[in-house]
Amino acid sequence: LSSGPLSGRRIVVTSGPTHEPIDPVRYIANRSSGAQGTAIARALAALGAEVVFVTGPADVPPPEGVEVVQVQTARQMLEAVEAALPADAAVFAAAVADWRVSSESGSKIKKQPGGVLPVMEFAENPDILAGVSQMKEGRPGLVVGFAAETDDVLAHATAKRARKGCDWIVANDVSPATGIMGGTENAVVLISDAGAEEWPRMGKDEVARRLATKISGALAG
Ligand code: C5P
Repeated sequence: LSSGPLSGRRIVVTSGPTHEPIDPVRYIANRSSGAQGTAIARALAALGAEVVFVTGPADVPPPEGVEVVQVQTARQMLEAVEAALPADAAVFAAAVADWRVSSESGSKIKKQPGGVLPVMEFAENPDILAGVSQMKEGRPGLVVGFAAETDDVLAHATAKRARKGCDWIVANDVSPATGIMGGTENAVVLISDAGAEEWPRMGKDEVARRLATKISGALAG
């Protein structure tokens, strides 16, 4: 049995992108590497938590010492999160695709002669963070979401926290000039009931360790 301040605590962490199939060989995705979510899961496990790590197809390998559930789509991620509950806390670091193609083609879409282009119709994916935050029964005691923004980070992230109903939002600026998306460093603002706390730029591992320590404090208090 693991020891540490989070020993006996069950925490669900989502991470990575989702892949939304168009046909058997094509999909819609995004540039999330899964680095920050993986670091968070590792840091929580290092403090003794029982971590269920629900991950889309990420660039980095999952951490050791956690239960790994691998998924492709947003709907599979939602299912895996629901199956992992109840939990003491949930951290939603995944970059879930907002839309999927409304009807996936069972066979590879062929090029049409004469330059006729395929038309894709989209459907909205479930919002996992909002759904769990707004659970009437069995809601995790602490729900943490992320907000990757390219402008007006604080205003957009504060509005997102209210809209989704989560307890904390970890907001970061992912505009290309920062090099944060896909990079090893992050600069975040933690938004909670207590207000906004700006953290200096630091490694994603260090962000993860600080966040894990904060979560540990919140669950103890
Ligand atoms: O609305 P937006 O995608 O910017 O919100 C980001 C936060 O919401 C992240 O914590 C992300 O993991 C979560 N999210 C989710 N399910 C979605 C979309 C976002 O859990 N379908």
